[in-house]
Amino acid sequence: MSGKSSVKIAPSILSADFARLGEEVRAVTTAGADYIHIDIMDGHFVPNLTIGPDVVKALRPHSALPFDVHLMISPVDLFIDAFAKAGANIISFHPEAGPHPHRTVQTIKAAGVKAGLVLNPGSPVELLDPLIGDIDLILVMSVNPGFGGQSFIESQLAKIEIIRKRIDASGRNIDLEVDGGVNFETAPRVIAAGANVLVAGSATFKGGEAAYAKNIATLRGGA
Ligand code: DX5
Ligand code: ZN
Repeated sequence: MSGKSSVKIAPSILSADFARLGEEVRAVTTAGADYIHIDIMDGHFVPNLTIGPDVVKALRPHSALPFDVHLMISPVDLFIDAFAKAGANIISFHPEAGPHPHRTVQTIKAAGVKAGLVLNPGSPVELLDPLIGDIDLILVMSVNPGFGGQSFIESQLAKIEIIRKRIDASGRNIDLEVDGGVNFETAPRVIAAGANVLVAGSATFKGGEAAYAKNIATLRGGA
């Protein structure tokens, strides 16, 4: 296969050097990333704190790639406009963060941004049922959200396969993204199960800037 395959790689900047975030975003952009995955944590919905819309806005000039903003905050709706204005192109949320997932999708779309629904490892596929006609991306968590560098939860492979069938049956153009523990060993299995977007934090950023292009190509399956 020449050039980029249909598999997209979304480096999670959670594993980047936070003192040099702009440079890190530029480096993975140059290294062949497809999306920039930005993890937003509130210390309440998940047991960790990261960054807010002002940092996303500050990063925006550093890459022309879509900003894939993964909200791990509760409630969700209060901050959607701020992240949209900061430059998010995709905003994903956890339906359990509530209170009204359908309203949240409407709010994201009204802000002119693509909407993604996130399923935790313990969340049933049925949460998609009322929303699959309205969303642009489904994010399957293959770790419990909150931290980079965790181990891939094997049971999520079967869930990815089921969701791939549902997306194909829907006839809609929906990205199937997988987040957590994606590395050189798990990436091929995640792709085989039907994912087309792989989030990778520690696997992208390991080895320093000189390794990013090789890391991204290996995750994609092109090396
Ligand atoms: C976890 C985050 C992930 C995390 C992935 O809550 O949503 O995006 O950064 O990190 P790795 O790829 O190291 O498992
Ligand atoms: Zn994430």
